[in-house]
Amino acid sequence: MNIGIDKISFYTPNQYIDMVELAKYRDIDPNKFTIGIGQDEMAIPFPSQDPVTMAANAAHKILTPNDKDTIDLVLFATETGIDYSKASSVYVRQLLDIQPFARCVELKEACYSGTAAIQLAKNHIAQYPDKKALILMSDISRYGLNTPGEPTQGAGAVAVVLSKDPKLLVIEDETSYFTDDVMDFWRPNYSDVAFVDGKYSNEQYQRFFETTYNNYLEKTGRTLDDFKAITFHIPYTKMGLKATQSITDDEKRLEIFQKSTTYNRRAGNVYTGSLYLSLISLLDSHVLEANDRIGLYSYGSGSVAEFFSMSVVDGYEDHLYKHHLQDLNNRHKIDIPTYEDFYNFKYPTDGSRVEFDYENDKGPFVLSHFEDHIRHYIKK
Ligand code: CAA
Repeated sequence: MNIGIDKISFYTPNQYIDMVELAKYRDIDPNKFTIGIGQDEMAIPFPSQDPVTMAANAAHKILTPNDKDTIDLVLFATETGIDYSKASSVYVRQLLDIQPFARCVELKEACYSGTAAIQLAKNHIAQYPDKKALILMSDISRYGLNTPGEPTQGAGAVAVVLSKDPKLLVIEDETSYFTDDVMDFWRPNYSDVAFVDGKYSNEQYQRFFETTYNNYLEKTGRTLDDFKAITFHIPYTKMGLKATQSITDDEKRLEIFQKSTTYNRRAGNVYTGSLYLSLISLLDSHVLEANDRIGLYSYGSGSVAEFFSMSVVDGYEDHLYKHHLQDLNNRHKIDIPTYEDFYNFKYPTDGSRVEFDYENDKGPFVLSHFEDHIRHYIKK
């Protein structure tokens, strides 16, 4: 039975900063951010957007009433979850009116957990072929103002509907996954910013790529020629470029790689959704044909990685969400002091009530207020 991605979409908040402006404000050569790091814009979340609303906003773009009646598994992958106990997918199921005989849980392993969710959901569909699974990946990445990690922040969510006989991509069974305990990037429970050993994290990303990619090739007997494209977890686009250059210097492949980073360059690092944002960039670039094979490299610091593959379904273009570029172009730019104000905003921790001004937040799902330690969500 073919199981895979039937629908996919992303959401990113409708305000951003320009990386050239950030560089100048920090007295850094802008080429470092746009070429050295490879990022042009960075999404800045409103206080009225959190991982729950972003995930609901991503899924809202693609779910039909029939999907909502058929989904019985909602997996929420995040490393910036809002609660140690309650799964964010419980809120999203309610907000989207997905039928309640559904399993809703949250998964964590840095940026890798979205891939774990997809593989677990694939097994679920194999067992219950008439059902669908909704996988949500949603994060706000924060390293701190004026830190080396600052230009690699971002915010956004990806929603994936998994089913049998998918309309976009079939997930192939062959895969290679690998785990090793390393301290390259982590966020202790008491911290709202990530701790990172930047250079070491780059080395681990590359080491895990070589390990899983070579193991996949060994197991399958395939070579690079068997892939039309390879997509990567994109903490910043230069990282994916370096990994690509470690296996090829072919101009055509480098061009396809660039096409697979269009949206990542403008949203920033969306952590769990980042690989799938790259996949959406590739799908929307229309370079793929039926039966093309795509390799996917998923990396989560700490670290767990997986290299696996999908093949393109005939007629996929007719089933893509058509407005991703327009959604990005409709965002508005804010200046750096305004970004810093947003960055410094903190939710109350004493149970007091705070109302959110969501006039400029185009949602449509937003956080309306916070009271008695409870987040209240609405659809505008
Ligand atoms: N023009 C062009 N390029 C320039 C330049 C200029 N004027 N100035 C510097 N550069 C280049 C540098 O040569 C360098 O290129 P190479 O990597 O090819 O050598 C690049 O810009 C970055 O410069 P630095 O290495 O000096 O940058 P930095 O030390 O200030 O920070 C970073 C870079 C370590 C990635 C930092 O942004 C960071 O810590 N980010 C967060 C961690 C991260 O994203 N790690 C990725 C792997 S871990 C992962 O993938 C999980 C995850 O999502 C976090």
